[in-house]
Amino acid sequence: MTDMNEKQKELLRRREESRMGGGPERITKQHEKGKLTARERIELLADKKSFVEIDAFVTHRSYDFGLEKQQIPGDGVITGSARIHGRPVYLYSQDFTVFGGSLSETHAEKICKIMDLALKNGVPVIGLNDSGGARIQEGVSSLGGYAEVFWRNSMASGVIPQISAVMGPCAGGAVYSPALTDFIYMVNNTSYMFVTGPNVVKTVTHEEVTSEELGGAHTHATRSGVAHFTVENDVVCLSRIRSLMAYLPQNCEEKPPLEASREPDREKAGKLDTIVPGNANKPYDIRDVIEGVVDDTSFYEVHELYAGNIVVGFARLDGKVVGVVANQPLSLAGVLDIDASLKGARFVRFCDAFNIPLIVFEDVPGFLPGTDQEWGGIIKHGAKLLYAFCEATVPKMTVIIRKAYGGAYDVMNSKHIRADYNIAWPTAEIAVMGTKGAVEIIFRKEIMAAQDPDGKQLELEEKFNREFAHPYRAAARGFIDDVILPSETRSRLIHAMEMTEHKAEQIPRKKHDNLPL
Ligand code: HXC
Repeated sequence: MTDMNEKQKELLRRREESRMGGGPERITKQHEKGKLTARERIELLADKKSFVEIDAFVTHRSYDFGLEKQQIPGDGVITGSARIHGRPVYLYSQDFTVFGGSLSETHAEKICKIMDLALKNGVPVIGLNDSGGARIQEGVSSLGGYAEVFWRNSMASGVIPQISAVMGPCAGGAVYSPALTDFIYMVNNTSYMFVTGPNVVKTVTHEEVTSEELGGAHTHATRSGVAHFTVENDVVCLSRIRSLMAYLPQNCEEKPPLEASREPDREKAGKLDTIVPGNANKPYDIRDVIEGVVDDTSFYEVHELYAGNIVVGFARLDGKVVGVVANQPLSLAGVLDIDASLKGARFVRFCDAFNIPLIVFEDVPGFLPGTDQEWGGIIKHGAKLLYAFCEATVPKMTVIIRKAYGGAYDVMNSKHIRADYNIAWPTAEIAVMGTKGAVEIIFRKEIMAAQDPDGKQLELEEKFNREFAHPYRAAARGFIDDVILPSETRSRLIHAMEMTEHKAEQIPRKKHDNLPL
């Protein structure tokens, strides 16, 4: 055997050593917890054989606590580039089998290198998180490493899509990297995120709470809204991230990828003309409307378990990606509250940042009243949704299906805040408030003076309905561009998408905006 071959052998041996991470025992432990290893995850996330690793031989530089005797090549995170649906991505995957995936200075440097490459090359970055947090033995070097990652997350925000999967522990300040990215996936039962864990919580507030209750996937998907998606296991998580990537452009300068057009679900499309119940207080499922309009099976819902009164997600219309924002009459009658405003605003801003046209399906009775909402800041949170629609310069379309009442009419992508195409179904009611409330206020004296107040109220409500509870006053002012049959919705929206394809709208020059936080 020549010298050269010996050197090649050494390379292969070193590669194998890096590949084995924390060793077979820890890999078995990882599997026993129902988790895949960092490398297995990458295999499932990336197109077959497309992953090319970098920095496999990086080791930490710590000499404290005898760490110098434990050098594992790769240092607890696997980094590199790959393809998803044939398009480039950068990714990192934390390896819990190496120092519990904890973040050392060098571990952070590897992540930062990937993020710098992603930003420089205009390519999305995906982080698979599974880590015990700051490498305790490295102290402030590790904290500095985190901050370097956070700074890059902030710089890359709005420039390239950033996706995080939390597939194990994610505690302390470590949560702020995923929090700064665009979408967070969490795996049921094996992941958690919290700033302070159950033990500290118990000491400080005397609350007894499990990790799962405090920061598990379900908690963050339903209560805090931190997680956009929850999934049953690692395999589903990676497959769902692959699906999401099909809707996203590579960066803010590009449009999302086109696909062949598909007709919508035939059954749902066929029911559009009859879906709105005659009684204005009866609900229907807005998802049936969305699915009756967009390309078949293209609706990819975001934040499904959070603020059910608003539905948001990506879809395709004639093969082109759109962002859908829709009030949901099935939940709280589709009212806007704090959570719905935050959910909607964040989604609208993502779409606008990445050139994804917005389609709004509107059936909103207004903002939710109550001390909870007022003291919780519905004014500033509702303003976020308003602001997000105002500042968005992507093509913006609105379909008013039924109620468009009060301030919510203005907020939900109205013509006045520069929507491009606003249409209404014949069932639309565009007014300052619902009929009953309106009549009680403006005709209070007449009703009280009547011999039969209830009868008078009904009579006035009918009159008010005839005069105001329809779309034709708004149409007469040009505030909506047309009133259409529900079955015409898809073709009208496709036409509007074609007309606005090259829309170029500028907002005033500024350092940055001052979104009401
Ligand atoms: C160094 C760590 C580590 C860490 C785990 N390990 N966390 N090493 N720094 N932060 C090591 C363990 O020593 C162990 O090594 C291996 O990883 C696996 O850990 P186990 O405890 O055996 O695993 P498990 O029982 O599954 O428990 C996982 C865990 C627990 C819940 C994450 O390890 C844990 O509580 N770790 C500490 C978490 C923490 O407090 N981190 C700091 C958070 S504050 P061996 O050799 O035995 O396999 C923070 C601040 C960030 O991160 C601030 C940013 C601004």
